[in-house]
Amino acid sequence: MDKFVVEGDRRLQGTVKISGAKNASLALMPACILAPGLYRLTNTPNNRDVWTFSRLLGEMGIHAELNNDELFIDSTNITSFEAPYELVKQMRASIYVLGPLVARFGKARVSLPGGCNFGPRPIDLHLKGLERLGAEIEVEGGYIIASSKKLRGTHFHFDVSSVGASVNVLMAATLAHGHTTLTNVALEPEVTALAHMLTKMGAKIDGIGTTTLEIDGVDDLKYVDEETIPDRIEAATFLIAAAATKGDATLTNVNAHHLTAVVQALEDSGCTVYITGQTIRVSMDSNPEPVDITTAPYPGYPTDAQAQWAAYMLNCTGAASIRDAIYPTRFGYVAELHRLGADIEMSDGSCLVKGGAKLTGASVMSSDLRASASLIIAAMMASGSSEILRVYHLDRGYEALEVRMNALGASIRREQYQEF
Ligand code: UD1
Repeated sequence: MDKFVVEGDRRLQGTVKISGAKNASLALMPACILAPGLYRLTNTPNNRDVWTFSRLLGEMGIHAELNNDELFIDSTNITSFEAPYELVKQMRASIYVLGPLVARFGKARVSLPGGCNFGPRPIDLHLKGLERLGAEIEVEGGYIIASSKKLRGTHFHFDVSSVGASVNVLMAATLAHGHTTLTNVALEPEVTALAHMLTKMGAKIDGIGTTTLEIDGVDDLKYVDEETIPDRIEAATFLIAAAATKGDATLTNVNAHHLTAVVQALEDSGCTVYITGQTIRVSMDSNPEPVDITTAPYPGYPTDAQAQWAAYMLNCTGAASIRDAIYPTRFGYVAELHRLGADIEMSDGSCLVKGGAKLTGASVMSSDLRASASLIIAAMMASGSSEILRVYHLDRGYEALEVRMNALGASIRREQYQEF
């Protein structure tokens, strides 16, 4: 397994290019099932989730090959309609193949995702939405078995704003017979990015960028080239890391509109943020003011940048409350930050970070993707050396993070180790 050895007392300074959005790629890749052909998805990030999704497509006979940031997907011949447990358990977004498979082929067999490191993550809305479109769904032997002659248009309201369910049901509705109205659709830029790609493929979708989508089903779609939007969570991670180390970093290839809540929180904490075109620069030279955050669906503060904010607040001049309204148990990183000397009080669905505790290097363990990023930020703020175990979580969603952090002045070494 890999671990990171992180030297503390670092200051990040310089320029870094942000990758394409992992979560957008994971929505664009299954869209390639909807029509046969050779797709080219540019600005694709090179991370483990993209490789896992490529393997999943490979299992179905769809060839996917990443060449620098260009992902070529050949969906001309699809030979299997199954997402096996071995891959779904590694990456919950594998369930995104369900909607396109049942819409185009009338059949799909997809493993149930099972548990996750930050609490229960139901998929009821994915299934209800597809059922409303006319799919028959059974669960047998840990697998969702979906079938349908032809999906038909419907009205479906998402009780909870869900990125994944919006992605799955939207893809399916594009090939349904007749008109579909979807309400309370998630506003996350990754859903909008998918809707734009589907429109390019020939789908008829009105209301893109709003919570109500009106879709007129079409008989077939065509393959396209599409550029992936920049990763707003990777950008947030670099911005917060730069602020936490009292640094001065410039991020290129970003969409600042997708980062409003994070930028506002940074400014409230005392950072100076400059936005020009596709570039954001953050500069910080003091300990931050405490800034409370509560995560919310987009355009609110993202749950995926909550753990990083907690690390930043370790140096604040007071106490900051971090509440996760989307995943109230997403605080696995708190016990690890304690090992570095952090003073954080946990309560139901939130934690209170008391700034100013002396942080010293220690051995800590990643529990999920964004928790890993939080530990790296805290380790750079601490004095001495830390090791962060199980960085495979981090590799799911960040492309060569240590290399890019080091280019900004961090000292992070990747080493192999054996876990007993
Ligand atoms: C996506 C992101 C993930 C991010 C999350 C919230 C991808 C691949 N992953 O995950 O990084 O943390 O959005 O922004 O894009 N819910 C239900 N029923 C469902 C589905 C969801 O009740 O069928 C609830 C969830 O428990 C959660 C909320 O809806 O409380 C939002 O979850 P959702 O947006 O679906 O998360 P994901 O799509 O899994």
